[in-house]
Amino acid sequence: MKIAIGCDHGGLEHKNAIKAHLEGLGYEVQDFGIYEQVSVDYPDIAVKVCDSITKNECERGILVCGTGIGMSIAANKIKGIRAAACSEHFSAKFTRLHNNSNILCLGGRVIGVGTALELAEIFVSTEFEGGRHQNRINKISDIENS
Ligand code: RB5
Repeated sequence: MKIAIGCDHGGLEHKNAIKAHLEGLGYEVQDFGIYEQVSVDYPDIAVKVCDSITKNECERGILVCGTGIGMSIAANKIKGIRAAACSEHFSAKFTRLHNNSNILCLGGRVIGVGTALELAEIFVSTEFEGGRHQNRINKISDIENS
């Protein structure tokens, strides 16, 4: 599985740690930056990571900003993206099981690196349950297309 990852200046340490962790688990990770501690606008990074998902170049994405919220707001504006801002394990698991989320957003100023690694691992390794949840996602797509 290929994972897209990106961050703004609020998430560089977490992004780099998640990338190394997922690569260590055998995932291929495409890094859309930032690569050094410079100030950037998080929507610019969100678009790059989300485009790689909607173009089927990567299967899932992880975005890190200060809170995870700005990245999730930006990502959810893009058709086909279901982004979830999570700061604990239950949500990271169930947003995959029930929402088939394709983007995980994390807050570098909210959670520690250790928690971020665990949430990222849960997110990439948990499969969508389908069934009744697919009907609900279809309704989200209907909203997107209306
Ligand atoms: C950047 O200072 C900060 O606003 C950003 O990382 C994020 O927290 C936005 O939601």
